Amino acid sequence: MPQPNLLLGVNIDHVVTLRQARYRTMLASPNAEPSVLAAALEAEKAGAHSITVHLRADRRHIQDADVWLLRKHIGTKLNLEMGNTQEILAIALDVRPDFVCMVPENREEVTTEGGLDVAGQREALQSTVKALSANGSRVSMFIDPDLNQVRASAEIGAAMIELHTGTFANHTGVELEAEVRRLSAAAELGHALGLQINAGHGLTTKNLPDLWTVPHLAELNIGHHIVSRSLFVGLRTAVQEMLAVMASYRD
Ligand code: PXP
Repeated sequence: MPQPNLLLGVNIDHVVTLRQARYRTMLASPNAEPSVLAAALEAEKAGAHSITVHLRADRRHIQDADVWLLRKHIGTKLNLEMGNTQEILAIALDVRPDFVCMVPENREEVTTEGGLDVAGQREALQSTVKALSANGSRVSMFIDPDLNQVRASAEIGAAMIELHTGTFANHTGVELEAEVRRLSAAAELGHALGLQINAGHGLTTKNLPDLWTVPHLAELNIGHHIVSRSLFVGLRTAVQEMLAVMASYRD
């Protein structure tokens, strides 16, 4: 099968948000549902190219056991999103995800707000990138489309950047156009520096076409919209709908 232009990582954190809402204190219960693994396998059957999960320090959704279960049983790639802490790094080194995406993490935030300040935390991030890369994971930096952050990501040895599309997703009109220009400039620079260019956050089947003038996109990571849509059409169809829109991307 020819490789599509743009790959899709399906973020299934919110499948687990639902499970935790009822079963946080009873994870061993035979009633604990929905199954994170069943969701991942369903996304894969629909054509997802990787499965993304964020193991947060507060364990609000994904649990350590979920990461191990996915590592053992999924057939595509595992993408682990993580904050730069010793605790999560030790787990990542043990699990050996195919991809690791370094993200900022604040306890109070509802979701990942804003990109990682790579330029301001070079040393701490560089040693983490080195350890993970030497262990066989390809490492990405989740950054705002800011040229300093793109340069810093390349300088510390990241293989990929994931451009934060939260601002893109929340604007219209001239503000949207300005953000698309920032994303394009960041993608151009990252590509010239040899980085793989990914993007994610707040992407939907409706807003994706506005992203299509951004060059060099290799992979999108999408969660909330797909999981929300799956309540009405099922996860397989929700993933297929996303892939159908993504098929129109041309670099
Ligand atoms: N990429 C990263 C690095 C994220 O932190 C998130 C949110 O967890 C996503 C992609 C997916 O964002 P959304 O759930 O809005 O599609």
